[in-house]
Amino acid sequence: MDLNDIKKIKKEALSKIAGLEDLNAIEEFRIAYLSKKGEVSKLMEQMRQIPKEDKAAFGKEVNELKNALTRALDEKRNELEKKALDAALESEKIDITLDAYTPTLGTLHPLTLVRRAIEDCFVGLGYKIAEGPEVELDYYNFERANIPEGHPARDMQDSLYIDEKTLLRTHTTAIQMRVLEKESHNLPIKLICPGKVYRRDNDDATHSHQFMQAEGLVVAEGITLADLKGTLQFMTDSLFGEGHAIRFRPSYFPFTEPSVEVDMSCHVCHGKGCPTCKGTGWIEILGSGMVHPNVLKMAGIDPEKYTGFAFGIGLERVAMLKYGIEDIRDLYSNDIRFLKAFKRLD
Ligand code: DAH
Repeated sequence: MDLNDIKKIKKEALSKIAGLEDLNAIEEFRIAYLSKKGEVSKLMEQMRQIPKEDKAAFGKEVNELKNALTRALDEKRNELEKKALDAALESEKIDITLDAYTPTLGTLHPLTLVRRAIEDCFVGLGYKIAEGPEVELDYYNFERANIPEGHPARDMQDSLYIDEKTLLRTHTTAIQMRVLEKESHNLPIKLICPGKVYRRDNDDATHSHQFMQAEGLVVAEGITLADLKGTLQFMTDSLFGEGHAIRFRPSYFPFTEPSVEVDMSCHVCHGKGCPTCKGTGWIEILGSGMVHPNVLKMAGIDPEKYTGFAFGIGLERVAMLKYGIEDIRDLYSNDIRFLKAFKRLD
């Protein structure tokens, strides 16, 4: 073994390094040449056999070999690592010019929009929101609403009974009766009660066996019909926009006295007369009145001291008027084309 042999080994090794193709090969090379049992160490071991005068030159040459291989291997490793990183970056590249996947978002159902609009309007006036059971006792649906058994007013609403004492509530007035009882010692009361109600009706363009109402109730000292009118005007302003007159027509409900039906000037023709208002210029929107003294008494509230007003508004009717929906069944068939088209109207 002489210096030329070492130079030869160096040349061969460097050309091997130049040909290494991946990081595994680099490691294999390092073990083969530069580890404790590698070629370079083996050369060092041969020092013993080298004549004394040549030892220094031999040692220097081996050292140079070691340094040269280490440097070349480091360079190669850096080069391969950079290549691997570039390849990863390339393969994981996101093509930002591709069309994004846009999820189809649902829309709020028109009845939800109307319910929220009514709630927002009254919550802004300091009302609380109350709920009650849809499977209701006859007692709250009728008795406490001043409609005792055998009262002809029971026929005004065809009911779906579950057993003799239980039915699907026919109106949100049942919630009103529960609240009056519960809050009788907690006056004044200012409430809005939205919910589903049920009637034994055959479904057609204007009837649905299930529909929604929102009940309003205020009980305090000194409440008058004028408060009712101002409140309802505020509600129609916020639901249909300002500028619609409202009028009271005398009516009858067992739970209110006096009772009124409320009309709003037609929002389509502004009172001139059109098919929507059947030429009258007015559209009936809800029933209301002053809470009947019997109702207050049954709830344990003194009608001499306290008075109140109540109203019940149909949400389908508001939705149909507001959005020009002609068939109430569209609100319940969940036809996606209808719901999508509606989105534009919101
Ligand atoms: N409960 C009535 C109905 O379903 C609507 C109604 C009328 C509610 C007058 C009221 C009211 O609170 O005062 O037809």
